[in-house]
Amino acid sequence: MRTTRAALAALLVLIPAPLVAVEDHLQTGETLFQRHCRACHGPDARRGASGDIRGLGEGTLRMALGGIESMPEFDFDDAEVGALVAYLARLAEAD
Ligand code: HEC
Repeated sequence: MRTTRAALAALLVLIPAPLVAVEDHLQTGETLFQRHCRACHGPDARRGASGDIRGLGEGTLRMALGGIESMPEFDFDDAEVGALVAYLARLAEAD
């Protein structure tokens, strides 16, 4: 009985952690997007420069972040690129 309770307590502590991490990740992506991309791609990533960029994969994103046409180059680290990919995926799902 005690073991079960301890196991349950452990689960309660462990389960939310990844969820919090995912939300942090999305929050980072949103902050980056709204700060650096919004002016040209619109607040919901569907307008402007190149139309709808929601749900684009990491490869396309990295290519664009290297600077294409009139889009400037951005120097984001892997975590930041991952956060942007996650945020764009979330926007696509939310539609
Ligand atoms: C100064 C304006 C500007 C800013 C700021 C900007 N972009 Fe762009 N972006 C463009 C333009 C213009 C294109 C289209 C280039 C082309 O089609 O050749 C583009 C294209 C893209 C594409 C490629 C779309 C496709 O279908 O190939 C992606 C992805 C993208 N941008 C993501 C971003 C992200 C993420 C940010 C923020 C970190 C950002 N952009 C910031 C102007 C901008």
